Amino acid sequence: MSKQFDVVVIGAGPGGYIAAIRAAQLGFQVACVDEWKNAQGGPAPGGTCTNVGCIPSKALLQSSEHFDHANHHFSEHGIELKGVSLDVAKMIARKDSVVKQNNDGILYLFKKNKVSFFHGRASFSRAHEGAYEILVNGAQQETVIGKNVIVATGSTARALPGVPFDETQILSNDGALSLGSVPRKLVLIGSGVIGLEMGSVWRRLGSEVTILEGLPTFLGAVDTQIAKEAKKAFDKQGLKIELGVKVGDIQSSKKGVKVAYVNAKGEALSIEADKLIVSIGRVPNTQGLNAQVLGLKLDERGAIEVDAQCRSNLPGVWAVGDVVRGPMLAHKAEEEGVAVAERIAGQHGHVNFNTVPWVIYTSPEIAWVGRTEQQLKADGVAYKAGTFPFLANGRARALGDTTGMVKFLADATTDEILGVHIVGPMASELISEAVVAMEFRASSEDIARICHAHPSLSEATKEAALAVDKRTLNF
Ligand code: FAD
Ligand code: NAI
Repeated sequence: MSKQFDVVVIGAGPGGYIAAIRAAQLGFQVACVDEWKNAQGGPAPGGTCTNVGCIPSKALLQSSEHFDHANHHFSEHGIELKGVSLDVAKMIARKDSVVKQNNDGILYLFKKNKVSFFHGRASFSRAHEGAYEILVNGAQQETVIGKNVIVATGSTARALPGVPFDETQILSNDGALSLGSVPRKLVLIGSGVIGLEMGSVWRRLGSEVTILEGLPTFLGAVDTQIAKEAKKAFDKQGLKIELGVKVGDIQSSKKGVKVAYVNAKGEALSIEADKLIVSIGRVPNTQGLNAQVLGLKLDERGAIEVDAQCRSNLPGVWAVGDVVRGPMLAHKAEEEGVAVAERIAGQHGHVNFNTVPWVIYTSPEIAWVGRTEQQLKADGVAYKAGTFPFLANGRARALGDTTGMVKFLADATTDEILGVHIVGPMASELISEAVVAMEFRASSEDIARICHAHPSLSEATKEAALAVDKRTLNF
């Protein structure tokens, strides 16, 4: 017997599970199907984000930062530690338990919200009487029928052509988050978000890390001034980043990996390492969905083609998150999931792409919202800029973490905030104030006039807003 639902969600990553919960809150009968398995073969909802993305990477970033502080920074505070040692297996086990808490949390939320969870691979079988029949291939075969379907099948790591991931020597994010020991030498290809975060984890734990980047500019999407400041900090830490390289032949053996490349000067070189992490972007995942039987349209990148409202070309079939256009970010997927559930209910779900924040969780952290200075120039917008360095912030000095700055960009005429860019301590938390301000279309003067707690890093935000009008108080 097929089970009938108002909404069937395929994928329980941040896009899917949040869409399922919101749809259930709105009174729909909801099913969510996800195929991810934990080590015991049981369900592990949460998608890439929970299992091999946001959550485990932040767990390891935190652990490795503790290790780095214990080795290099505690003595500045008068704390002398002797014989600091590393138990990689315990660190990985802690990361796994953080992941499991999140998996279990989602299963609990499904129960609480009366979302029916199905563990297995979903594939479309047919459209029938204004609904879709979906086969779930799990421990047993089941069929669910949904009047509305939300596809949230996410993305997978892009491999270099002809160099498949073996997750032993040639690693995607999956293998990079589960190494059993610290590689003596580690090479990463791609100095994007994953390259910098994973490179930071293993460098802090003792690897000699080299990142090979194809583009000639470092973090091209980031405000140039902020990217420059971050690069300076990474250079100082010993994170070696080679820009403008062309990667050639890659050979792997039991002993390690050898990567041939041509550097920016045109010299043919090669580098040997114990492990290679390939972090050159991700591809939308529609594998196994059997979408072609219904004629679901994909774009040239293989993403499901949707309109601004996340509607596909098939009536009643929606798609959200990494499997559609736009930034591949968990919070963007969540916002789309909520908006689609609300649209199905006839409400006006809304996602503001202009205020989606980005964060790179390195040390220093990099966070931004809105347009960069180079984008404003390219768009011909007249703007004013204000910056404030953490060096002049009392809380940053007390923390012993004074790298970086906050930068405001505001419209030259109206003073409306057009972009805020931060490199420095807790940038991931500080950026929220800027997101709220931009969402309310605040001016830089609005932030400059708001009382900020002292001593706090957020005073640097206020000071950067004051700097737009050339009236910083502490610099
Ligand atoms: P996913 O999370 O990929 O979930 C898709 C789910 O669908 C999976 O569980 C998959 O098993 C399931 N599925 C696929 N096909 C089927 C099928 N046919 N049947 C049943 N189930 C299926 N983003 C951030 O915002 N912040 C971060 O700090 C961050 N860190 C990251 C770190 C790493 C190492 C990586 C790789 C990514 C990171 N991201 C981060 C990106 C983030 O993980 C993704 O943007 C987010 O997971 C996308 O959510 P989603 O719901 O679209 O898809
Ligand atoms: P990315 O797009 O951030 O970076 C890929 C990098 O690889 C780019 O700099 C690109 O120029 C380079 N590159 C591509 N092909 C190359 C080649 N052949 N040789 C050398 N360099 C090459 O992708 P990444 O780091 O794989 O991450 C994927 C996505 O996951 C991110 O775009 C982001 O959306 C998400 N993510 C988000 C995080 C966060 O929010 N903190 C953390 C990690 C991932």
